[in-house]
Amino acid sequence: MRKKVIAGNWKMYKDVNESIEFVKELVLKQNNIPDNTDVIICVPFTSLFSVNQILKDSKIKLGAQNMYYEDQGAYTGEISPLMLKSTGCKYVILGHSERRTYFGETDDIVNKKVKKAIEKDLTPIMCIGETLQERESGITNQIVEKQVRGGLNGLSPEEISKIIIAYEPVWAIGTGKTATPAQAQDVHKFIRDLISKISNDKVASNLIIQYGGSMKPENAKELLSQPDIDGGLIGGACLKVDSFYGIITA
Ligand code: PGA
Repeated sequence: MRKKVIAGNWKMYKDVNESIEFVKELVLKQNNIPDNTDVIICVPFTSLFSVNQILKDSKIKLGAQNMYYEDQGAYTGEISPLMLKSTGCKYVILGHSERRTYFGETDDIVNKKVKKAIEKDLTPIMCIGETLQERESGITNQIVEKQVRGGLNGLSPEEISKIIIAYEPVWAIGTGKTATPAQAQDVHKFIRDLISKISNDKVASNLIIQYGGSMKPENAKELLSQPDIDGGLIGGACLKVDSFYGIITA
């Protein structure tokens, strides 16, 4: 039985003080987290260290939203996996559609980052998903396949077993439009079958595949009860303690 994994992606919201206040409240309510559920919050780089001081002994795990694929060096403005680890961070979102769209991240770059994260024992949450135009042209599966194969290129089944995939249709991110549970389930099933081809059945059946894109307390239960949807990557609705718990308890 796969666990449910609910991850909050704060994006570029909350300064250090706001982060600390928010996380204190999250931890106070952590008894609401069901047994079979992992909760992760992916905060801005600037809040990682202080948030970890509060989360350390809690049930909630810490993640970042990006990293570079070198250990160190003359890469002004970048953050390395070793730096992330030194803050106590255990997860990292890679290849989010906003990174792909605004910062030119390609499947090849995402692949380098995924490999490096695994090498350094950080769990990558690799994001993939089609645009509205791609969905309307009927090429969703092709796009998703290209992103999965590209992002996981050269990884062994053992390495693939260490990642989380987040399926996030670009047209559903921050738009209030959610994929229907059936639309999401179809793509999740397609991804799981694909993972089985590029690794093996065991890796595929244990793989956590999250849905992301306007998930909120009102639609979470139906999405999360689909057989191949193992959790959510939540943007907008994770910025308020109550709506985040609304999803976690769904
Ligand atoms: P959203 O964002 O929940 O605000 O649609 C999801 C994401 O970008 O991961």
